[in-house]
Amino acid sequence: MQTNGFKNRVIMITGAASGFGKLLAGQLADLGARLILGDLNQVALTEVAAALQAKGADVLALPCDVTCETDVRTLVEAGVSRFGQLDIGVNNAGISSAMKSFLDTEENDLDINFAVNAKGVFFGMKYQIRQMLKQGGGCVLNVSSMAGLGGAPRLAAYCASKHAVIGLTKTAAIEFARKNIRVNAICPFYSLTPMVVDGLAGEGPEFLQLLASGAPMKRLGQPEEIVSAMLMLCSPDNSYMTGQAIAIDGGLSAS
Ligand SMILES: NC(=O)c1ccc[n+]([C@@H]2O[C@H](COP(=O)([O-])OP(=O)(O)OC[C@H]3O[C@@H](n4cnc5c(N)ncnc54)[C@H](O)[C@@H]3O)[C@@H](O)[C@H]2O)c1
Repeated sequence: MQTNGFKNRVIMITGAASGFGKLLAGQLADLGARLILGDLNQVALTEVAAALQAKGADVLALPCDVTCETDVRTLVEAGVSRFGQLDIGVNNAGISSAMKSFLDTEENDLDINFAVNAKGVFFGMKYQIRQMLKQGGGCVLNVSSMAGLGGAPRLAAYCASKHAVIGLTKTAAIEFARKNIRVNAICPFYSLTPMVVDGLAGEGPEFLQLLASGAPMKRLGQPEEIVSAMLMLCSPDNSYMTGQAIAIDGGLSAS
């Protein structure tokens, strides 16, 4: 039986000012979790935190650039100092640079995508797991992508960085399995967050429809559908799953 295992849990989310992170924070607040939120976008993060606090949620929100190890460490430490523990870490902050052909991809595209999507996840895991070891357990959920499981035309740098997230996830899952720390990743297909709706606007109005036609469900994901899966994966009830990279993709990976 599923319980509300999130009540009073202390949960850290990066990239909490928009998209999946913002929605996840709202749902966890409604379930009674205590939240440590970080984002590069300080203005949007402050608005998110204020809205949650107005509903009675216990929230610590700090500006955090996940490419900066000190920022991530500070976010974890400030959260633990405030709440005394860290039960779940969600390494969600990510970027996608403009689509371009493989041969037009430049070193800077690789640097930016790896800095945020791979190093940012690594820094989060490193300090979350250090704290979880002190407590005797915990759970980490990393946000990869379908581009972490297979090739993604015109997104070489993003795709490579999201594959790296799965490597980090599986490695840590094995290293810390005996320490009662679960580490998993989700791999969403294109979903209608600002990253996709705004980020792909330049590709033209038919492009999202073209992407949708590639999935057996013939539609893109709603952010709520991805967040439901995130909640399932990091639920304390989901206690025997670790080291997995789970596709949330309207059936794409089954075809
Ligand atoms: N939306 C999709 O279709 C989709 C599909 C697969 C994977 N993802 C992944 O889901 C995650 C969330 O994306 P989203 O769709 O909600 O996008 P989004 O753009 O709505 O939200 C991303 C958030 O991350 C923050 N961020 C960016 N760089 C940061 C940094 N250096 N430090 C801290 N915060 C930073 C942004 O300010 C923003 O608030 C990302 O890792 C993304 O790659 C998204």
